[in-house]
Amino acid sequence: MAHSRFFRPSRQNRMSQRKILVTSALPYANGPLHMGHLVEYIQTDIWVRFQKLTGNQCTYVCADDAHGTAISLHAEKQGISPEESVARINIERVRDFGEFHVAFDNYHSTHSQENRKLSEAIYLALKEKGHIVSRNIIQAYDPEKQMFLADRYIKGDCPKCGAADQYGDNCEVCAATYSPAELKNARSAISGAAPVEKESEHFFFKLSDFDAFLKQWTRSGTISDEIANKLAEWLDAGLQDWDISRDAPYFGFEIPGEPGKYFYVWLDAPIGYMAAFENLCQRRDDLSFDEYWNKDSQCEVHHFIGKDIVNFHCLFWPAMLHGANYRTPTRVNVHGYLTVNGEKMSKSRGTFITARTYLEHLDPEYLRYYYAAKLSSRIDDLDLNTDDFIQRVNSDLVGKVVNIASRNAGFINKHFDGRLSATLSSSLYSQKSAAELIAGFQAAANTIADYYEGREFGKAMREIMALADKANAWIDEVKPWVVAREQDNSPEKRQELHEICSTGLNLFRLLMIYLKPVLPAMTVKAEAFLNVAPLTWQDSQTLLLDHNVNPFEPLMTRVEADKVASMIEASKEVLAQMETSSKQSESSSGLSSGVSSREWLEKDPIADEITFDDFAKTDLRIARIVNAELVEGAGKLLRLTLDIGEPEPRNVFAGIKSAYAPEALVGKHTVMVANLAPRKMKFGVSEGMVLAAGPGGKDLWILEPHEGAQPGMRVM
Ligand code: MSP
Ligand code: ZN
Repeated sequence: MAHSRFFRPSRQNRMSQRKILVTSALPYANGPLHMGHLVEYIQTDIWVRFQKLTGNQCTYVCADDAHGTAISLHAEKQGISPEESVARINIERVRDFGEFHVAFDNYHSTHSQENRKLSEAIYLALKEKGHIVSRNIIQAYDPEKQMFLADRYIKGDCPKCGAADQYGDNCEVCAATYSPAELKNARSAISGAAPVEKESEHFFFKLSDFDAFLKQWTRSGTISDEIANKLAEWLDAGLQDWDISRDAPYFGFEIPGEPGKYFYVWLDAPIGYMAAFENLCQRRDDLSFDEYWNKDSQCEVHHFIGKDIVNFHCLFWPAMLHGANYRTPTRVNVHGYLTVNGEKMSKSRGTFITARTYLEHLDPEYLRYYYAAKLSSRIDDLDLNTDDFIQRVNSDLVGKVVNIASRNAGFINKHFDGRLSATLSSSLYSQKSAAELIAGFQAAANTIADYYEGREFGKAMREIMALADKANAWIDEVKPWVVAREQDNSPEKRQELHEICSTGLNLFRLLMIYLKPVLPAMTVKAEAFLNVAPLTWQDSQTLLLDHNVNPFEPLMTRVEADKVASMIEASKEVLAQMETSSKQSESSSGLSSGVSSREWLEKDPIADEITFDDFAKTDLRIARIVNAELVEGAGKLLRLTLDIGEPEPRNVFAGIKSAYAPEALVGKHTVMVANLAPRKMKFGVSEGMVLAAGPGGKDLWILEPHEGAQPGMRVM
């Protein structure tokens, strides 16, 4: 295997702890996560878990990519503010990621204070050094919506073949490419109005200033040769200035000193990686923003992205960082695209499968294993073939790995009271002694570690399954079930059975260590069965002897073909819903009657005595504050969007503005009364009440997420 320059084999890692910051691309907050996204988040999560398992300090951050026209249009269709829409999507998303065991150390948002500050600072630094220029450009403009139109928001008839309803820059019928100005009968895809041309001032980042830097950077081991060769085509053709501004109305950050001009979403999106990390540093004493991001940082920064966003991460982003005097990424890891059953994900074939639909039908660890088995360090597309998926998961995980445990556990529990032997089998039956077999398993730790490190997960899985095959072949040969029949009146046979089964369980334990980055939940069950502390990579060099295990319980069940079929069927329905939901969802805020907020908030706080039964009726839950906004015209109120572990977020008005700026609340946890009848207030319906403690005024306390409470938990 070819090691890139930065690569340090795991053998050495044990001596010096690496400090690694890892990111996945920030998913756009305008729709549900799907199987394609999950390729990336699962790939990154496996890599991160591997790093943590080997003892490195590895920190994994991500965020919602909240800005841009697509997001504000999505919100507008639902009749809610972009902030509200992003907050809703965030709730689903955080839950989906959690259930797929994608374990971020922080999941933030690009629409955050940290990101605004960093984006402004980086822009100003670039400007100061003369890397920003402005000039007027002419663009299509929607006179009705009063906004400029990006190419994909213009539709019309193809200038070549005449096909109707084609997008701004290419024809899906004849594949011609053209400029939007060439479209016939052009109109705005947003309002239907005929676009007009309008001039406006734009700001550009002079990418060509970084030509020499980028030529060197792209060849310095930061990206694979495969990608570097692709980029060389652009670099050799000469770099163009990059348009980093958009005119109002735009959901994003206003450019400092340029009223009405906003940063283009792709300017602040990658800065969101830094912002997510900075936000985490605020609550982690062991992490320092400067240590990771200063120009001469010795820490590593690894990005994981899909092949569609290479130019942003391998040209614009390193140039911006370099220009603003920050360190550049250690490595940008690029993966290919997912196809399902050999084709692009298709809504009509039911292969556009959302994360949620999958979770409603199948165990997330099936997918983690399947993706791991298919992933490599290259950018080839990978195919989720539903038959292969069923076959491979059943044969490898259930048929090979779990089988090793279940073939041996019963005997250990039944005949030896759950205690493993003090020595391992040197079975007479076998050509190969158990010691040799075990030594081979332990020696594989380095090869497998190299594969994980180099993102050759498919090779790692094949190596692990080859070991599982060896273990099963050995068990077939030494036949514990036969020895078990002979052991009744033979102490030697009894000892032999004990050693065979203890060997079998040790082999199983070693396999679980190697699979732990891929199968975190199954490993937890295996650790409980083996009665051991959470396994680390180093544990592969020790054995479990003279030790009590627990009764064996099934670790994973087979994938059922009919569940896969119903997932595909359900995916067709989900699509139908997604398509109608935009029509159904009118704004639901026609509220004015009812108790005024003043009256509600300023009621005498010392209430009458209540009985225990009254108290027992309150449903107190931990809520995560996913969004907090000022409420126009309300002196003390904030509008909170709360995640309490239910599908729909709760909207609650809380009188805590005196103590908290809205941004300071996002991501924090609080306790809420979840079964309070909804109340109509002047500003909207409040669906519950949050509890905060303190004397009032500036001193009100709310929980930090790391204080252990999770959304939906009941408070008792
Ligand atoms: N918001 C940008 C990324 C900003 S990073 C500073 C974006 N968002 S996305 O939601 O469209 O995609 C998120 C990630 O998922 C990207 O890396 C993208 O390549 C990946 N994938 C989206 N669809 C995919 C497949 N069908 N297959 C594999 N990966 C895919 O891009
Ligand atoms: Zn055409």
